[in-house]
Amino acid sequence: MNTTPSVASAPAIEVRSLSKRFGTAQPALREVSLSVQPGEMVALLGASGSGKSTLLRHLNGLHRADAGSVSEVKLLGRRLQSGGRLSAETRALRREVASIFQQFNLVDRLPVMSNVLVGALHRLPLWRSLLRAFPAHELQGAYEALQHVGIDACAWQRASTLSGGQQQRAAISRALVQGAKIILADEPIASLDPASSRRVMELLAQVNRERGVTVMVSLHQIDYAFAYCPRTVALRHGQVVYDGPTAALSEERLHQLYGTQAGELLTPARDPAPAVASASRGPVPPLVAVPQAA
Ligand SMILES: Nc1ncnc2c1ncn2[C@@H]1O[C@H](COP(=O)(O)OP(=O)(O)O)[C@@H](O)[C@H]1O
Ligand SMILES: [Mg+2]
Repeated sequence: MNTTPSVASAPAIEVRSLSKRFGTAQPALREVSLSVQPGEMVALLGASGSGKSTLLRHLNGLHRADAGSVSEVKLLGRRLQSGGRLSAETRALRREVASIFQQFNLVDRLPVMSNVLVGALHRLPLWRSLLRAFPAHELQGAYEALQHVGIDACAWQRASTLSGGQQQRAAISRALVQGAKIILADEPIASLDPASSRRVMELLAQVNRERGVTVMVSLHQIDYAFAYCPRTVALRHGQVVYDGPTAALSEERLHQLYGTQAGELLTPARDPAPAVASASRGPVPPLVAVPQAA
């Protein structure tokens, strides 16, 4: 069990000077710095190829920054990686972070329940985790998580039989079972129809609001950011070009920031999203003036 206390009042996510280059290509991330307070719900916006997935994969320890760089990532006040090296705390920190992917990442042939219970594995003694011998209270917890997202009726179906939206809801219930303090969702609605997209975003917002889970969700269109995320961090060519209230991102501003790429972010809403990010929780971070990418 992890006994290291989270540092009270530390940012949930703190990224400093994060740079990443794959091979000899243009850098995928250039000196990205940002700080997310516990309980925030932040959209990570950017056209395809802007570095959203790469950034999120540095936050869950799947990618390491360029070796020898001054890059640093801290979660909950504890170092996850620095200078391209994972810290000794990485394993413990991964339990605090749940990742949700565009392509669902469930084990297709296993029942939904088994997929959700994966979230509880880290709490089991080794013999139980090897035998997948879950105590009754964990089964109960998983069932309740499935009820919470409205797919308890599918608990014993194979994951592959669920619709995309249902699979994404299963991934959210796995995050609930895990007890994650941070959810990183990488374009979780990119493959979904409008109604399912709304449901998934509503669930993420609800988990954020009711359980105080910090949520960072990448999106390549701005409509759902307006509806659900009080703050947006926008990436272009691996650089942060905007970090501030989503409401201040006018169409004109997006054109300034993205030029001809703006169209991709402004693609007409597939669905008029309902809520507005006015349900801002906590102080809206100040608009940070970031120089435009060259
Ligand atoms: N594993 C990888 N190997 C090589 N290049 C990569 C890899 N992952 C991402 N890239 C490159 O990094 C850039 C950012 O990609 P990505 O983070 O996937 O963007 P986004 O998620 O915003 O679409 C792109 O140019 C992409 O081709
Ligand atoms: Mg991506």
